[in-house]
Parts: sequence; structure tokens; C-alpha cells
Amino acid sequence: MGRIILGIESSCDDTSAAVINDGYILSNIIANQDVHKSYGGVVPELASRAHQSNIIPVVDKALKAANVKPEDIDAVAFTRGPGLLGSLLVGTSFAKGFALAQNIPLIEINHLHGHILAHFIKKEGEENKEPTFPFLALLVSGGNSQIVVMKSHLEMEIIGTTIDDAAGEAFDKCAKVIGLPYPGGPLVDKYSKMGNENAFTFNKPRIPELNYSFSGLKTSFLYFVRDRMKENPKFIEENMYDICASLQKTIIDILMDKFIKASKQTGIKEITIAGGVSANSGLRERLKQEAEKRGWNLFIPEFGYTTDNAAMIAITGHYKYLKGEFTTQEVAPMARMTL
Ligand code: KG4
Repeated sequence: MGRIILGIESSCDDTSAAVINDGYILSNIIANQDVHKSYGGVVPELASRAHQSNIIPVVDKALKAANVKPEDIDAVAFTRGPGLLGSLLVGTSFAKGFALAQNIPLIEINHLHGHILAHFIKKEGEENKEPTFPFLALLVSGGNSQIVVMKSHLEMEIIGTTIDDAAGEAFDKCAKVIGLPYPGGPLVDKYSKMGNENAFTFNKPRIPELNYSFSGLKTSFLYFVRDRMKENPKFIEENMYDICASLQKTIIDILMDKFIKASKQTGIKEITIAGGVSANSGLRERLKQEAEKRGWNLFIPEFGYTTDNAAMIAITGHYKYLKGEFTTQEVAPMARMTL
């Protein structure tokens, strides 16, 4: 056996545990929380309680699926932040207890770093292509929209970031305006496939350099829908697919505009995408087109690694382990944490 890392992820509403062996995935178990469905968003109090119930069974399943025993684990890596504090506390406390009981190192992981390094998770019997350094990462999730230059597994530079809302928030908040349930992103994606993306146009921000802004789009979308509803109260139901397709195109245009600029400015053509919004089919398609046109070497994550999972935490733990970057039993989670 090689270096075996147990990863623990509990930053939001998914409880996950994963085991990797020298970068090869042995198991990745995720327990979703249905309890939030009727509330239109994640309820932090309920999330932490569900993590508390799930954590032990999830870790137990991950160890059994990997066919390893607690004493085979070399280190435990856990998400320290960013995320919901109550949720993070459950994973952090578990990881500390496990590390203490097994007398093994404890490794803290930034959840966003995990999303980016998900491209390095290897599978037995597969080709396992990895990006080479330096590469550009478009990190797009419910809480982040950033352009990052990855210089090595552990060294990075943020060259662009949102000055207000994140891309996922833009999807979710606009979806709410047209009556779609939370999280609206996946539904907007689904309906977009049946709509005309050029049916409507929305304002795009003029923000300097490589930064993003999505709050203006949200406001212009809200006014647009409100005005059209005054003229025709059935506007939303009659145009749902076209509205979604036009909204999605606008968000993708905004994201890609700066990302292309970032590639030109840095001269980096090794391109990756990460985070929840990287599941968007329109964005994936556009990236493929741009890659073809611009000679990019493109890495798109498997769908399973776009959402929160402990495999990405474990792989990041693997690289921190190799550098001896361990943390102490005094560590506490952080709800706000930048890369
Ligand atoms: O990374 P993530 O799972 O959670 C954090 O924010 O940490 O990202 C969740 C975000 C939500 O805003 C959700 O609407 C968005 O990712 N999302 C999508 C799609 N799938 C998830 N947005 C657009 N299209 C999708 N297919």
C-alpha cells in the first residue's frame, strides 16, 4: 500500500468521506441532505444536525468501500473552510478525533483549493491526464468566481475575482425571480437546452481588468421580467425556455470574456474549470469551442467532482502530506476563507 489519505468534507449540505492511495481513488461516499428541499435553500441549523447524523456512517462506508481499516490511514485531511460554520465544525471535530485516536497527521484543506486539484484524482486502469503547471483555473461556484494561476499543486495566484455576487449566485437569484426552486442553476441549464439563447439580451458589466461582477445582471434581469410581466402576466410561463437560454448565455459570455483575456495576458493555454457551475452544459460546450479555436489544452472535471466531495479534499491532502504541511489539534474551522 502507498500513502493512504482519508478526506472529510462537510462545508455545506453534503457529508462526504473519501479514501485515496498515492493519488488513486479507492472510495468517495457522499450523503446528500434532502431536509432542505422544502425551504428553498440550505438551512444551516438543519445542515449541521444532518452532518452529525451522517458523518460516522459515511466514513464507515468509505473505509469499507476502500477495503481499508482505520489503522491503515496515514493522514486525515478535512475542509477547514469556507462554508457554514456549524457544518464545518462537524467535519473538523471528526477529523481531529480520528487523527488523535490513530496518532496520524491532520491536514487542513481550503475547499476551493480542493475543487481546483480535483483534476489530479487518479483512477486505477485509466489514462489519468493531468494539467501541467502553470495552468489557469476558472473557479465558479455558488460563493466564488475567480481566475487563478496555479503555479504548483500548492502555490497559486488569484488574478481575477468577483467584486460582488458569484456566477452560481447569479444563476440562483435570477432563477428565483422566474419562480424556479433553489438551486436554480441546474434547472436553468436544463431549460436552456430547449430555448433560443438570442431571444433576449441583458446588460453585461464593464469592470476593469480580470474581475467579475454579477449584481448588475441580477438587477437588470429583475427589472426586465417585471416590465414584461406588466405587459403580459403570462410572460414567464410562455417564455421560460428562451429566458433561461438567454440568461445562461449572458452569464457564460461574462465568464468567458475575462477568462479568454486572462489566457491572452498570461500566455497560459493549459486550461481548467472547477466548482459547482462547471457542471453547466453550456459553459462546458463554450469552453470546448474556445479550446479548439485557441489551441487550449482543456481539462473539464467529471460531473461527480463538480459538486462537493471528499475525494478532492483527500487529493489536496495528498499533496500537502508530501510537503509536510500538517496542522495541529488547536485548529478551528473558518466560515470565510480565501484561497
Ligand atoms: O461548488 P458548489 O457545489 O457549492 C458552493 O458554492 O460551494 O456550487 C453550487 C452552485 C449553485 O449556485 C448551483 O446553482 C450551481 O453551482 N450549479 C449550476 C449547475 N449545477 C450547479 N449552475 C449552472 N448550471 C449547472 N448545471
